[in-house]
Amino acid sequence: MAVTLKGRDFVSLHDFTVEEIEQIFDTARFVKMMDKTGQPFQPLKGKTLGMIFTKPSTRTRISFEVAMFELGGHALFLSSQDLQLRRGETVADTARVLSRYVDGIMIRTFSHDDVLELAKYAAVPVINGLTDLLHPCQAAADVFTIIEKKGTARGVKLAYLGDGNNVAHSLMFAGAKTGMHVVVCSPPGYEPNPEIVRLAREDARATGAVIELASDPREAVRGADVVYTDVWVSMGQEAERDERVKALTPYQINEDILKLAKPDAIFEHCLPAHRGEEVTDGVMDGVHSVVFDEAENRLHVQKAILALTL
Ligand code: CP
Ligand code: NVA
Repeated sequence: MAVTLKGRDFVSLHDFTVEEIEQIFDTARFVKMMDKTGQPFQPLKGKTLGMIFTKPSTRTRISFEVAMFELGGHALFLSSQDLQLRRGETVADTARVLSRYVDGIMIRTFSHDDVLELAKYAAVPVINGLTDLLHPCQAAADVFTIIEKKGTARGVKLAYLGDGNNVAHSLMFAGAKTGMHVVVCSPPGYEPNPEIVRLAREDARATGAVIELASDPREAVRGADVVYTDVWVSMGQEAERDERVKALTPYQINEDILKLAKPDAIFEHCLPAHRGEEVTDGVMDGVHSVVFDEAENRLHVQKAILALTL
């Protein structure tokens, strides 16, 4: 049965039911089919999305901007450098003012609390385009891609190797909501946030998903259907670069470790990749890699989120 998501914020996948996530995926399949067959689908005529960025972006900015255009609406790129936020206007006041002009706000920033604050004071839907804690649009596109490639997410084993970061956190929620077996394998000190693990395991009870933590990369990858990694140094962590590279080097995805996964395993990465660090060229450009289909699916999944919430 169709569920209505009008007016809802998209801040964390944890906030959505299993049925609501299925609705997003069904809509994404529909908008992708319309796109591929060249049929217009423009439910957002006359609507504007404000997009606040305090961190760089290639995929998120461009896919949201193109998504709004193709859905019949308009997107405004708002660099935090140029907003009065930089001069001390509060997040709450910014939320209230923007709500008088735009129909939705997408934000990429450091503090997750700032996004919660924005959502609290905005009268329009707020979409999380990445915080230090979560990256829900990415994980939704990742699982959508898994379903396209594997036919289902249920029972699919995803091994995530590396930093227990924003991408790992949202993958745990996405996997928990769709019945996957997610293994997050990190060195000591780089494990995912225990509260996110607890919440994902709570979500997993409804779907039979398994959320596992591990530290041995070879064991984690063994028999995996999906092998995933992300950068070792996320935006804002540049000062920790040397220690991170040292700790995370044994967690690299290379041709050797990928052999332990299932023969038909796929390789995912949210991108941008630091080739030669968390992943080798051979894996990025090899037969298992689906990273560019995954990047494309950001567009389709975000169109679904925009069409349903705005
Ligand atoms: N994966 C992702 O969010 O990419 P960008 O940082 O380029 O937006
Ligand atoms: N973990 C990375 C993801 C980039 C899309 C970061 O936060 O920089």
